[in-house]
Amino acid sequence: MALAFRLNGEDVLIEHADASVTLLDWLRDAKGLTGTKEGCNEGDCGACTVMVTDSRGSKALNACILFLPQLNGKSVRTVEGAAGPDGSLHPVQQAMIDHHGSQCGFCTPGFIMSMVTAHTNGATDYDDQLAGNLCRCTGYAPIIRAAKAASGAPVPDWIADETSFTFSEILRGEAAGREAAPPSAPPAATPPLLPASADELAELYSANPDATLVAGATDVGLWVTKQLRHLPQMIFLDGCTDLKDIEVTDTSVRIGAMADMNALRTAIEPLHPSFAEMLRRFASQQVRAAATVGGNIANGSPIGDTPPALIALGATLHLRNGDDRRDLPLEDFFLGYGKQDRQPGEFVEAVSFPRQPGALKVYKLSKRFDQDISAVLGAFNVTVGNGRITTARIAFGGMAGIPKRAANVEAALTGQPWDEATIQAAAAAFDQDFTPMSDMRASADYRLETARSMLCRYFAEMNGAAVSVLEVKP
Ligand SMILES: Cc1cc2nc3c(=O)[nH]c(=O)nc-3n(C[C@H](O)[C@H](O)[C@H](O)COP(=O)(O)OP(=O)(O)OC[C@H]3O[C@@H](n4cnc5c(N)ncnc54)[C@H](O)[C@@H]3O)c2cc1C
Ligand code: FES
Ligand code: FES
Repeated sequence: MALAFRLNGEDVLIEHADASVTLLDWLRDAKGLTGTKEGCNEGDCGACTVMVTDSRGSKALNACILFLPQLNGKSVRTVEGAAGPDGSLHPVQQAMIDHHGSQCGFCTPGFIMSMVTAHTNGATDYDDQLAGNLCRCTGYAPIIRAAKAASGAPVPDWIADETSFTFSEILRGEAAGREAAPPSAPPAATPPLLPASADELAELYSANPDATLVAGATDVGLWVTKQLRHLPQMIFLDGCTDLKDIEVTDTSVRIGAMADMNALRTAIEPLHPSFAEMLRRFASQQVRAAATVGGNIANGSPIGDTPPALIALGATLHLRNGDDRRDLPLEDFFLGYGKQDRQPGEFVEAVSFPRQPGALKVYKLSKRFDQDISAVLGAFNVTVGNGRITTARIAFGGMAGIPKRAANVEAALTGQPWDEATIQAAAAAFDQDFTPMSDMRASADYRLETARSMLCRYFAEMNGAAVSVLEVKP
């Protein structure tokens, strides 16, 4: 199947696309656009950042873990397209020069494209916007100064026009940019499948149950770039826009499987701010803009950040296989390390949880504050009535082979007075719930001690103490 997208304002049609070629490789090898750099090739450094625009807006994404079919119908801007057609610099480029924001320059194209995207979106939380771009020599102060200096300038016409195209226009303009397959890629034996709705996905996946589903590709991308795996048949879910919605009603919250982490963060902020604050530390801006809730659940990782929080909220997982649907408590989906309750041809359609008082607190412990995988993640949701604990839902990541509830701790809390003695007694029950492993992130003892401390932290926070490292002052 042919892919059509817009690249730096020009329409491109790729026939016989090899689905597992990343945008980064295609830009550099097939197009000779070497401004986009390869640093880590695993989504960590931001050297390969590009801006991708569709009807939902503009996102900064890492080209190294973005497959070409994910761009179908979208517009891509690389650093070569940051300046205008007449060579006028983008305001962030000029500001980087004026404020000495570049030394060796290797990271600079990635920074520029993150800054162009932030500028386009009017985002000024630069510490978060740029946390996924690493610079080894300049230091961040001049770069942030440059971003601030450019923030008052209007969005240049050539960037503002980016949102004004439609997919049919791209297809009509195909003649000018018709591309052969990348020279190194043989004609794709098994063309990628690109369903445009959940119904189409259900039909295609039932017919091809051995295919690999690709959502944001922040996990699957690494199977290809790091494990060098060959994925014979890929189904790309990005066109299933009906799976991207997040519905908040008076009684429930339903999150479509293809909702990305930035969308989830925005929707969850007014309801459960602690969950949203944890999501601020989920990877980086570029990864959050791609990573989906469905992918974070379906990959079954014991250190995925959203499952413990969702389990603590009493979430239900909605699975679909063809026209058959079934629901199960999210915690029951995780059967054992690397093993989930999912049948061939079955996919995650959504996850939902009831509206409830905002008692949820989510604590992420990682070696680095930004852009790091959790060593331990604890999610606590305890309700208290007349001084006694009425319900307790507590779930952890990083403490077992799966995201797991602390059933013995919950039992030790339920029905007891909401006081220090109850918390201390319940903390002892963590030993019955978990036998964590030691690895490079944390030792087993440290993990258990951390879990106990997190329960004490929850008690302190619910009683009004400032517990965040961002709030506690010496
Ligand atoms: C640099 C970096 C930092 C990261 N940091 C974090 C972090 O802080 N916290 C964290 O939790 N994770 C982190 N991750 C891991 C990753 O971003 C998440 O697991 C993400 O949510 C995966 O979602 P995705 O849409 O990219 O999934 P994909 O990579 O597209 O898919 C992941 C798996 O889920 C399957 N799948 C996807 N969608 C569905 C569906 N609807 N139904 C059934 N199966 C499906 C795929 O077939 C695949 O097996 C990080 C990754 C990178 C590269
Ligand atoms: S090359 Fe490092 S994030 Fe892409
Ligand atoms: S300028 Fe050298 S890595 Fe940033």
